[in-house]
Amino acid sequence: MEPLIHVRGKVALVTGAAKGIGAACAATLARHGASVVVADIDEQGGRAVAGAIVSEGGIAAFMRLDVTDEAQWQSTVNAVVDRYGGLDVLVNNAGIAVVHTLLETSLAEWRRVHAVNLDSVFIGTRCAVELMRPGGRSGRGGSIINLSSVGGLIGAEGLTSYCSAKGGVRLFTKAVAVECGRAGYGIRVNSVHPGNTDTPMFRQELEDMRSKGAVASTEEALKFYMDMQVLPEIGQPQDIAAMVLFLASDAARFITGAEFVVDGGLTAQ
Ligand SMILES: NC(=O)c1ccc[n+]([C@@H]2O[C@H](COP(=O)([O-])OP(=O)(O)OC[C@H]3O[C@@H](n4cnc5c(N)ncnc54)[C@H](O)[C@@H]3O)[C@@H](O)[C@H]2O)c1
Repeated sequence: MEPLIHVRGKVALVTGAAKGIGAACAATLARHGASVVVADIDEQGGRAVAGAIVSEGGIAAFMRLDVTDEAQWQSTVNAVVDRYGGLDVLVNNAGIAVVHTLLETSLAEWRRVHAVNLDSVFIGTRCAVELMRPGGRSGRGGSIINLSSVGGLIGAEGLTSYCSAKGGVRLFTKAVAVECGRAGYGIRVNSVHPGNTDTPMFRQELEDMRSKGAVASTEEALKFYMDMQVLPEIGQPQDIAAMVLFLASDAARFITGAEFVVDGGLTAQ
């Protein structure tokens, strides 16, 4: 019997896929049958991720995309359709975290965090919907998955601009899901909310805590994050990729405008 969760025959574009959660999403979607475009500003890392997928027998290509640049988005999605004949899955994963209190945050920094974490999701989603809707260049509907955070659900100290942007991703996702559903576009739009996940971004946060003297060692920083949760371990990129795979697949055909928390119980308390 065919497995319920697969993405065979689908074309997926994953942003911020040169490392961390994005790289795991790209590899997982490819392993489950999708042709995957690995998009990132990090060319070396992105090419390595695409190369590893191909050497495992999957289908992947790297495309350079700065998610804050509207013109690059247009040319990238068009290049995806030229190369693979359509676009079925967009994973808006690229993001940055800047740990500063409100009083430490400049307007320029606030705008940068919103540009990379929220404006990018707006531009990418608009490009994808234009393509995926009936009559668009791809025209066969699709699934858009936006990476928010537990920081898009609850407040966190030192993350005012990040929480604002990620909270924006959460409600933007719902509003687009409503529009696409009502318009009969065949496009589902959902958000995923990771908790502490062991990626280069997370490791940098541990290092920042140590260097600022908030903790004595990386181990103490890890314990600090672990103590926030119910489950006694830090999440792995693969844990988030599993949720993304499910939402990308037709097993999630009745799910839109919903939020999926993958956080080891952090927000359950
Ligand atoms: N790691 C966590 O604990 C955690 C928790 C909650 C949410 N998230 C979210 O998950 C997503 C992935 O996080 P991660 O931990 O894997 O991050 P990461 O920093 O490890 O990797 C992010 C990737 O995005 C790319 N990127 C950054 N700016 C870009 C731009 N302008 N255009 C294109 N690519 C760009 C980077 O080059 C990098 O490859 C982010 O949206 C993040 O906010 C992560």
